[in-house]
Amino acid sequence: MAEKELKPICEDHVIKGRRLSNRLRKEVKIEVEKLVEKNGISPKLATVIVGADEGSQMYVRMKHKASNKAGILSESHDLPEKTTQEELLELIRSLNDDSSVHGILVQLPLPKHIDEKTIISAITPLKDVDGFSPANVYRLFYGSEDLSAATPHGIVTMLDRIGWNDLSGKHAVIINRSMIVGKPLIMLLLNRNATVTVCHSRTKDLPSFTRQADVLVSAIGRRTSDDDPFFITDDMVKEGAVVIDVATPHGDVDFEKVKDKALCVTPVPGGVGPMTIAMLLKNVVAAYSAQVS
Ligand code: GUN
Repeated sequence: MAEKELKPICEDHVIKGRRLSNRLRKEVKIEVEKLVEKNGISPKLATVIVGADEGSQMYVRMKHKASNKAGILSESHDLPEKTTQEELLELIRSLNDDSSVHGILVQLPLPKHIDEKTIISAITPLKDVDGFSPANVYRLFYGSEDLSAATPHGIVTMLDRIGWNDLSGKHAVIINRSMIVGKPLIMLLLNRNATVTVCHSRTKDLPSFTRQADVLVSAIGRRTSDDDPFFITDDMVKEGAVVIDVATPHGDVDFEKVKDKALCVTPVPGGVGPMTIAMLLKNVVAAYSAQVS
């Protein structure tokens, strides 16, 4: 029987993040089945969440559901807002020592009384499936992408899959300088030979930068409803650019108008979000493989 032709990832100027994510998640599921058969041990992800932030709770629930669908076991540690830093460190140490746990994810942000850097640094790098620990950030600086941050890794994977895997001569403009998105993305884009500019809240004349972008990644995320004005309008986008909207739940980009000018643009929802989940699952499998083999 002829092999079924795969649908394109960019269709009608829209990058189908969900389509690509589903494809990657199926691949992960098949890989997990093989690994479990070979090793007799299932991969397991442990998540930690402190406080009752509804958005964070929802994202973590989605991560568990996707893990379980791919054959990855999961356990959640939901701690109250008043948890002390020492209590959280104690939990991290016990998860580091638990050989049945292969991946640890501490959902960010943490409450103000807890120092994020101290907590992230306490996760053993082998189990750091977010790629946020100092050792994994360092490895990314040296070009190793196997445990890199899920959201930026999802972004470059979409670029790779539309054929934009070598960005030589292309200008990538990132609007974000966080440890979760902007900073790791700089390295991932540099690895693909892009010329990279980073803009942020103190940048003057943002449109003068965005108009130069062959790849524009926007992660402003300050729109609170669908009625708020967009941050990235069509007049700020170069003809033929690839535009990636990281903001959620309300995208930064005027999708309907930008779509007609750009080569392709990611929708919200259905773009970057599903890719983040797929890349997390890939990281769990990579962490498991490094520990179990
Ligand atoms: N908060 C927002 N995005 C992320 C992420 O990718 N990982 C973690 N741990 N927290 C987040």
